Amino acid sequence: MATRLKWGILATGGIARSFAKGVAHSALGEVVAVGSRSQASADAFAKEFGVPRAHGTYEALLADPDVEAVYIATPHPQHVEWVEKAAAAGKHILCEKPIGLNQAEAVRAVYAAREYNVLLMEAFMYRCHPQTAKIVEIVKSGVLGDVRLVQAAFGFANGYDPTNRFWSKELGGGGILDVGCYPVSFSRLIAGAIDGKEFADPVKISGAVELHPEAGVDTCAAATLHFANGLIAQVSTSIQLMQENVARIYGTKAWLLVPDPWVPVRESGATELHLFRGADKTPEVIKLETEEWLYGTEADAFARALAEGKRDVPQMSTADTLGNMAVLDAWMTATR
Ligand SMILES: NC(=O)c1ccc[n+]([C@@H]2O[C@H](COP(=O)([O-])OP(=O)(O)OC[C@H]3O[C@@H](n4cnc5c(N)ncnc54)[C@H](OP(=O)(O)O)[C@@H]3O)[C@@H](O)[C@H]2O)c1
Repeated sequence: MATRLKWGILATGGIARSFAKGVAHSALGEVVAVGSRSQASADAFAKEFGVPRAHGTYEALLADPDVEAVYIATPHPQHVEWVEKAAAAGKHILCEKPIGLNQAEAVRAVYAAREYNVLLMEAFMYRCHPQTAKIVEIVKSGVLGDVRLVQAAFGFANGYDPTNRFWSKELGGGGILDVGCYPVSFSRLIAGAIDGKEFADPVKISGAVELHPEAGVDTCAAATLHFANGLIAQVSTSIQLMQENVARIYGTKAWLLVPDPWVPVRESGATELHLFRGADKTPEVIKLETEEWLYGTEADAFARALAEGKRDVPQMSTADTLGNMAVLDAWMTATR
C-alpha cells in the first residue's frame, strides 16, 4: 500500500492513548488529528504523540478533510452518536467496544455505516492479533478432537467509586458491557470455527447477574451459552473480583489453555498457548513471536480491508457485532 491511512482520534482518554501508540507502530496507518471536548486536552495529546492537528471539539475533527478514518474512544453511551455523525461526515469508523449500550444502538450504528457507505468495525482488538488466528487454526485442525466446551472470563477488581465510568450507570458501567463482551465474542468465534464459519450465535442463553445496590451496575455476572452445534460456553465477568482472565477450549482429545486471550502482548513480543493432550498435566507450549503491536494490528486489519474496498473487516464484521450485542442484551436481563 503506497499511502498510509490517515486516522483522526476522537477523545483523549486511556484507550485513545494506547491506540495512538499502536498506530505509531502499525504498517499502514498514521494519526493526523485528534479531537477532544477541550482544546487543552487535544493540544496535550497532540504534543505527547506528535499528532499534527488538535481540534477542541469532536465536530471539528469530523470536519477535518485530511482525516480518512475516525477512531471513537469515548465511553460507551456516546459511541452511537459519534458513529452516526462520523458516517454522515463520510469518515470510515473504528468504534470502541461495545459499539452501543444495546443491540438497538448497534443496529443504528450499522445502519449509518451502510447509509453513508463507510467501513465500520467494533474495536475488538484481540480478534486482529495473530494469536487469535492461531487459536482458530488449532480448533479447525482437529487436534483437540470434537470441541464441546469453552470457558472464558474477563473481569477485574475495581474499588467502588461512583464517579468512575465502571461504576456509573450513566456512563454505561458494569462488567458485561465493558469486558464481558470479550468472552462472549470469543465463545461465538470458537462456535463458528467448529463449523468453518466466522462466528455462530447461541440458541440458548442463561445467565446470573449481581447488581450493585447503589450504583445499579452489574458487579459480577456469569452466563451459559448453548450453540446449535452442541458447544457449551461458560462466560463470566466482574468489576470487583480478581479473575483469572484466561480461556479454555475443551475437546474430546485435548484441551487448550489461552493464558492471555484478550491482551496477548500489548507491544511486540512473545505469547503462549498451552496444549494438554489426553490426560497430560504438562502442556505442549506453543510460542508465538510477533513484531506487531496489538492496537497496530487492529489499525492494519482495518486499513487492509479498506484498501480492498470492503465494508466489513473480516476479523470483526458488523454482523458479528450485532450477534454479540444480542447476547449481551439477553445476559443483562438475568438479574435476581
Ligand atoms: N479495546 C480495548 O482494549 C479497550 C480498553 C479500554 C477501554 N476500551 C473502551 O474504550 C472506551 C473508552 O474507555 P477509556 O478507558 O479510554 O475511558 P476514559 O479513560 O474515561 O476516556 C474516555 C474519554 O472519552 C471522552 N468523553 C466524552 N464524553 C465523556 C463523558 N461524558 N465522560 C467522560 N469522558 C468522556 C473524554 O475525552 P475528551 O475529554 O478528550 O473529550 C475521555 O477522556 C470505552 O467504551 C471502553 O469500553 C477499550
